[in-house]
Amino acid sequence: MIKVIEKLFKEGNLQKDEIISLLECEDENIIEKLFEYARIRAKETFGNEIYTRGLIEISNFCKNDCYYCGIRRGNKNVCRYRLSKEQIMECCQIGYDLDFRSFVLQGGEDPHFSDDVICDIVSEIRKKYPDCAITLSLGERSYESYKKLFDCGANRYLLRHETSDFCHYGKLHPKELSLENRIKCLENLKKIGYQVGTGIMVGSPYQTIENIADDIIFIKNFKPHMIGLGPFVPHKESIFRDFPHGSVKLTLKILAILRLMLPKALIPATTALGTVEENGREMGILAGANVLMPNLSPKDVRKNYLLYDNKISTGEEAAEGRKALGERMEKIGYILSSKRGDYRE
Ligand code: 5AD
Repeated sequence: MIKVIEKLFKEGNLQKDEIISLLECEDENIIEKLFEYARIRAKETFGNEIYTRGLIEISNFCKNDCYYCGIRRGNKNVCRYRLSKEQIMECCQIGYDLDFRSFVLQGGEDPHFSDDVICDIVSEIRKKYPDCAITLSLGERSYESYKKLFDCGANRYLLRHETSDFCHYGKLHPKELSLENRIKCLENLKKIGYQVGTGIMVGSPYQTIENIADDIIFIKNFKPHMIGLGPFVPHKESIFRDFPHGSVKLTLKILAILRLMLPKALIPATTALGTVEENGREMGILAGANVLMPNLSPKDVRKNYLLYDNKISTGEEAAEGRKALGERMEKIGYILSSKRGDYRE
């Protein structure tokens, strides 16, 4: 197995059967070596700096009914909200004052946020904070829509593919949603010039190790600028309420493999990792992640943007906890950076 890891470190690639053997490997020494190599690779590009993005959850209305998600349309026990332009601008100001130079506007697929409404908000952020990166995470939209938002000043877009297996995709989503369209969206975003992020939930219902190996190969071939990976966490009002949460260890292994395959990628240690395990985000960084995304949403709405149960949002993962978060990073030998942290070839 050590040969496989050496090969991954040297060549940045593996065959599918090698990926599977690594995912199935339980040898702690091997896994620690994998993480060590991933840290070395991350440090070559990013040193010991961890970039931060302020996450603003602009709406929990969603027209979709994804079986895993807490804010799916069919969940009647959610107090729905959407932020006004003024509220979003206030979040940005608070974030800017806390040294954030990158904002992520994330929301369900809320028809209220038409192109005109988002363009107005993005243009205003772009005008007021020319030095900041603007990332959108608003789901599937048309080419024209993505293009308009890009032309107004958005730079990056996050859209996880969730799974690269058509059959598995169908088990996670209602029939109106298709993997074909998801991939088309990702290709369109790239063509337009966005820095694009994709990724998966680890341990989502019906996922196999082979699915994960295919996802790793899909991501390697797609070459996203950003990769979002978190364990699946059940939500009590979702169809998957009785499934167990995904494994942190497996998530970290996937993260490390992808770091070695795509050395320059921006990879967050996600909130889901921090939710399932107290030190999950530190573990993510020690497995090769280089980004944190603290919550900048207004405090009173955070409890309503629960994609899964027990989602953390008021401790050190919150933007106002930046100082404490910085201290946590220093304990493991890293520092929080105030840079925009763009993808660089
Ligand atoms: N557990 C973990 N991650 C989830 N997401 C949605 N629901 C869950 C859940 N129950 C992730 C999806 C989506 C991202 C915004 O949040 O991967 O793309």
